[in-house]
Amino acid sequence: MSGISNNSMQFVLDNKITTVDFKNQNLKPTTTVLNYLRSLPDHKGVKEGCAEGDCGACTVVIAEPDENNDLKYKAVNSCLIFLPMIHGKQLITVENLATRNGYEVNLHPVQQALVEANGSQCGYCTPGIVMSLFALYKNYKNPSKDIIEDALAGNLCRCTGYQPILNAGLTLSSLGNDHFAKKKNETVELLKKIQHNNHSLAIETEKQKYFQPLSTEEVFELKNNYPEAVIINGSTDIALKQTKKFEFPENIIDLSRISELKTFRENNNEFIIGSGLSLEEIKSGLKKKLPAFDQMFNVFASKQIRNLATIGGNIGTASPISDTIPLLFAYKAKVKLLKSKSERELLIEDFITGYRQTQLLPDEIIHSVIIPKPEKDTIIKFYKVSKRKDLDISTLSGGFRLTLQNQFVKEILLAFGGMAEITKRATKTEKFLLNKSWSRENIKKAGEILKNEFKPISDARSGKKFRKIAAGNLLLKFYSKIKTE
Ligand SMILES: Cc1cc2nc3c(=O)[nH]c(=O)nc-3n(C[C@H](O)[C@H](O)[C@H](O)COP(=O)(O)OP(=O)(O)OC[C@H]3O[C@@H](n4cnc5c(N)ncnc54)[C@H](O)[C@@H]3O)c2cc1C
Ligand code: FES
Ligand code: FES
Repeated sequence: MSGISNNSMQFVLDNKITTVDFKNQNLKPTTTVLNYLRSLPDHKGVKEGCAEGDCGACTVVIAEPDENNDLKYKAVNSCLIFLPMIHGKQLITVENLATRNGYEVNLHPVQQALVEANGSQCGYCTPGIVMSLFALYKNYKNPSKDIIEDALAGNLCRCTGYQPILNAGLTLSSLGNDHFAKKKNETVELLKKIQHNNHSLAIETEKQKYFQPLSTEEVFELKNNYPEAVIINGSTDIALKQTKKFEFPENIIDLSRISELKTFRENNNEFIIGSGLSLEEIKSGLKKKLPAFDQMFNVFASKQIRNLATIGGNIGTASPISDTIPLLFAYKAKVKLLKSKSERELLIEDFITGYRQTQLLPDEIIHSVIIPKPEKDTIIKFYKVSKRKDLDISTLSGGFRLTLQNQFVKEILLAFGGMAEITKRATKTEKFLLNKSWSRENIKKAGEILKNEFKPISDARSGKKFRKIAAGNLLLKFYSKIKTE
């Protein structure tokens, strides 16, 4: 790779450029930001609650300049990010919020708001809650109750004190500027100094090699040399292998800095979404254009996870409970796969071949997802059944597509997640409904066919009987919703 940096990375912490030298500091490239911070004497406010993205106690904020040199702030779970993923960014922890004047400590406006609302509770969860509120304060002038709840959905508290925390969120719009706003230009300058030496990272320690290329050409060069390397993007799936299963990948290719994979384009017929775009970026881009995506993202993990997780990663897992997949079935989306000198496009239905298996070849990467624009009279919806609404993975899910002509079914596609080892269409049910009248009577009959079309498993999330009944109820819900719209 050209312009490689050997074994070191840089980011801004405590208003200074910090250099991590992996050779001399005895750190692994897959050391999480959480564990790195906890190893420092002055950054122990960040806590490990679950080490799997569920509790939010490890929330920190990452800032990066946009094209206008404004800093964009993102709350993320530090237990899920590997250290090199913050190269070239500002890392903000709870210790950075208050300012000191000798012995006098001035709380950050967000901390003060939390104190005044009686929202400061145990020392385990509060630092993470403060960081989520801080990101909210930096990103929204006047957040609605829904936006506040969404920003806090990734922070658990077991002492049942959510209301005062939400109340603190409601006061954020009245708070003035903070010291981060005053230091913005200084911070951007520091980040530019790091960017000035913008180069790919190559970190080699005794047991691991970690590459962070800047172009797809470099990726294929690396794949050639390390065919078994693990590809990561947001790492929200892969990081758990390390934090929960103690599996340490030997060679890693991190795609998170390849701008070619982070583009969003639209033409007359389709949306083309780069595999490296985060789900939160897609959520804001598609909100008005493809409302079913907004529906799905509203119940997808938490803001901290969506800020990291990518669409390439979600389909790359090929999990039967990946939430984007049934919806992409309903949109008849295609996946563009890229290799060194060629590319190919496959329907998402053909891309997934088995439980966590796809058609991706060892020398390919997922480049983008292509979503054809549906006809005006085509209705597409997404439904998810989970034990709780926020931050929970699907027990089952449905991505449905329907076109009616004079109340008769002209086209129907019913894709279910969580009902089989892969996302699967209910083809017998579809066949039954095609060309029939869109009536409650026919939906009830279709529900009976649907019950026998899948053989779901029983697991910790639910029994197979529940899954069969719930799938029928999703179809009924789809019918009722369309009838009343
Ligand atoms: C607490 C928590 C909650 C979650 N909630 C949900 C949820 O509600 N719904 C849901 O669907 N998922 C959920 N997930 C799972 C996960 O966040 C998603 O699957 C996410 O989209 C993965 O994206 P990533 O970029 O982080 O993937 P990564 O972890 O980086 O990669 C995942 C897989 O995709 C492959 N891959 C990634 N990018 C590419 C590429 N460009 N080319 C080839 N292969 C690639 C990787 O090799 C790997 O096998 C949750 C995870 C956690 C930890
Ligand atoms: S430690 Fe629980 S989300 Fe990171
Ligand atoms: S703030 Fe920690 S349990 Fe409620």
